[in-house]
This record gives sequence, structure tokens and C-alpha cells, in this order.
Amino acid sequence: MDDRLQQLAKRLSGATRVTVMTGAGVSAASGVPTFRGPHGLWRSFRPEDLATPHAFARDPRMVWEWYDWRRSQLAACEPNAAHDVLARWSAHPGFTLITQNVDGLHERAGTRDVIRFHGSIWELQCAEECRGSGSGWEDRTAHLDPLPPRCPPCGGLAGPGVVWFGEAIDPAVLARCERALACDVFLSIGTSSIVYPAAGLVHAAKRLGAFTAEINPEATEAAGDLNLAIAMPAEDVLPQILGSVTSSCD
Ligand SMILES: NC(=O)c1ccc[n+]([C@@H]2O[C@H](COP(=O)([O-])OP(=O)(O)OC[C@H]3O[C@@H](n4cnc5c(N)ncnc54)[C@H](O)[C@@H]3O)[C@@H](O)[C@H]2O)c1
Ligand SMILES: [Zn+2]
Repeated sequence: MDDRLQQLAKRLSGATRVTVMTGAGVSAASGVPTFRGPHGLWRSFRPEDLATPHAFARDPRMVWEWYDWRRSQLAACEPNAAHDVLARWSAHPGFTLITQNVDGLHERAGTRDVIRFHGSIWELQCAEECRGSGSGWEDRTAHLDPLPPRCPPCGGLAGPGVVWFGEAIDPAVLARCERALACDVFLSIGTSSIVYPAAGLVHAAKRLGAFTAEINPEATEAAGDLNLAIAMPAEDVLPQILGSVTSSCD
């Protein structure tokens, strides 16, 4: 095994609390396009045109066509080996998974108690009268009809249950993340580490004393501040260190 992998495996096997933060890269091997990188979604679409409250207010149908297209792509994707390893690790009580992904693949792989930092593409929420009342609902149909969808109780426009650029993170989600920062190892996997506040979590964990590592084939700007950077795909690394998160994490 590569030296760096060995180092990470050793840290994980001595850890009582392990927190993992994932980004779009963990789903790349499932065929889900990342936002940045050579085949990233933002190459052909500008985020400010689509993933903002302003864009939705201006043209809800266009925004929904984009989400509907992504939902139909995701419906055909399966969790990969990286999701599977994280699902196995999630059986240990000392383990927490935070994801920036909205694709639901961690849950489909069987991960328990996923902290969804940016919400879920499979959830809808009222954008009108019931907005903010916490009344989101799940709808997993690949193509929604009608488009844009409507809120059943009030008949108003519904939006996707995701956090858009410029929107605040749910305080309950932030509180759960805060608790997960007090860990022995914080592992950042498949994220470009540039979308804040998510990108700040690994640095906060380090300040609190965690050993911090990233797994990303392209080292990110954050890597220099972390204890370890493994420049390999998540789906190759995680199966090799599967046995490192053990019952000491209970
Ligand atoms: N799957 C999804 O749900 C999805 C997809 C695209 C973007 N997003 C959104 O993008 C925003 C943040 O961006 P991000 O940092 O998650 O994604 P990003 O697209 O900015 O970065 C993806 C990172 O993954 C790395 N990567 C590519 N293949 C990899 C692999 N096999 N193993 C490990 N790493 C790999 C890339 O080098 C890149 O640094 C979030 O708001 C998130 O909601 C979500
Ligand atoms: Zn409503």
C-alpha cells in the first residue's frame, strides 16, 4: 500500500471519532458530472444563471428544466465503491458523514444519518405561501409533471430542495456539523474546497485538533493547510482502507 494511504489508515484505526465531508468527486465514478473540472456542469452553464434565488424568480421554468435534466441523469446512476465504503463506516456511532452533494447516492448506498449540507435534489419545497414552514416533500420521479411543479397545499410554485448560491445554510445542519468538528480525523473527499461555508469545515476541524486529510486526484488549494493530501480517486482509495475504521470508533 502507498505510504500516504498507510498513514491515513493508521490514523483512522486509532480514531474514536471520524468525520468525512464529501463533494461531487465522490459521485464522479457513478457518472454524475462534477461542477468544476474538465467535464464540469458549469462549463456549459453559469451557476449565476441557474442556481440562485434570483434566477428562479426570473425564470422558474428554465431553472426547473435544468434540475429536471439533472434528476433524470441521476435516476440512472448507481452508488460506487467509495459510497459503499462510507456506508459501511457509517455503522459506527463515532462516524459522521457530511455531504455537499444533492444526489442522494450516499443514502442509496445505505449511509445512515447523512448531514446534507446543500439539501437534496429529490426534495421539493414551496416557494410561495408555505415557504420556510419546513414543509418540504420527497418526489423521486425522474421527470416532473407539470414543470414547474406546484405545492400541493397552496398551489403555489415549488422549488428544488437545494441550497442556492447566496442562500444561508439551515442552522440545524450547521449545529450538527459543529458537533462533528470535534473529531480525531476529518477527511475531505472529492471537493474542490472553494464553496463556503462548506469548505471551511476541514480547517475548523484542524484548529480543534483533528488530523486532516483530503482525497482528490487534483490537489486543491486547501491541501497545503491539511496534514495529508492523497492525489488519487476516492473509489480507488477507500476500498483499500475499508478496514481502518473499526469498532474503536464505537
Ligand atoms: N453529485 C452532486 O450532488 C453534485 C454535483 C455537482 C455539484 N454539486 C454541488 O457543487 C458544489 C460544491 O462543489 P464540490 O466541491 O462538491 O464539487 P466541484 O465540482 O467543485 O469539485 C469536485 C472535485 O472532485 C474532484 N474529483 C473528480 N473526480 C474525483 C474522484 N474520482 N475522486 C475524488 N475526487 C474527484 C475534482 O478534482 C474536484 O476538485 C456543492 O454546492 C454541491 O452541491 C453537487
Ligand atoms: Zn405552498
